[in-house]
Amino acid sequence: MNQKSLLSVRNIHKTYDGDGFKVDALKDVSFALEEGELVAVMGTSGSGKSTLLNIISSLDKPTSGTIELKGKVMDNIFVEPHATHYRRENIGFVFQSFHLLNDLSVEENIAIPLILQGDSEADIQQKVQNMLQLLGLANWRKKRPTQLSGGQQQRVAIGRALITKPPLLLADEPTGNLDYNTSKEILEALVEMRSSLKQSMIMVTHDPNVAVYADRVLFFHDGQIVDQYVSRGKRDIDPILSIFKNMMERSA
Ligand SMILES: Nc1ncnc2c1ncn2[C@@H]1O[C@H](COP(=O)(O)OP(=O)(O)O)[C@@H](O)[C@H]1O
Ligand SMILES: [Mg+2]
Repeated sequence: MNQKSLLSVRNIHKTYDGDGFKVDALKDVSFALEEGELVAVMGTSGSGKSTLLNIISSLDKPTSGTIELKGKVMDNIFVEPHATHYRRENIGFVFQSFHLLNDLSVEENIAIPLILQGDSEADIQQKVQNMLQLLGLANWRKKRPTQLSGGQQQRVAIGRALITKPPLLLADEPTGNLDYNTSKEILEALVEMRSSLKQSMIMVTHDPNVAVYADRVLFFHDGQIVDQYVSRGKRDIDPILSIFKNMMERSA
């Protein structure tokens, strides 16, 4: 395999230093993401997963360390207006709560990023219709988010995140609000996007049933990557459970 690295996270430290508290949320975190790869970041609550995604997406500033995208050090992305530009051009974000606009239809929600970037009406129509097909939402395009199931709403959110073809999709507990079967449906949709759009993704989760869908799992504990598992698409949960258990025992 001759794959190119899309993202390099290098020696990231993050300390939250406030009135009477100091938290080292990330301690020297480094890893690379290949193009088209789906990496899961797995760890317990408070291990630094959301902080990591917020730094990669320039919503939060690291205390030290660098982010490289396509071989270039992104040295000004933590300052506006560069942060907003960097995010618009490079990052799609999917959250646990869907963050859809309830006054707009499904197709209008998906179209928002295209309107913001000034696409023509014809382009918007075509891109949105393609995305609706890809996500199996064509019959729901005129509906409001409140008329949809949780799984359908999350598919709309994925469509909105990917409609501008960002190089990187970040998903923070994307199935955290969904039941087991709906979670599977969403994970299948993400894996399908990874294959059909060659979409690179980082997905954060505390759940081994979610991590099993990734190509590679990074195990986070107490702000550090303590282990890694390369699954290459094999959906075998046992090695993930066993690494996770060892990690928890070592720290107990
Ligand atoms: N804005 C903040 N101010 C202070 N501490 C924070 C802030 N955000 C996160 N933390 C702390 O940093 C650590 C990592 O948090 P987080 O990245 O949200 O973990 P996770 O997403 O893995 O549950 C936790 O101890 C959390 O309390
Ligand atoms: Mg979190």
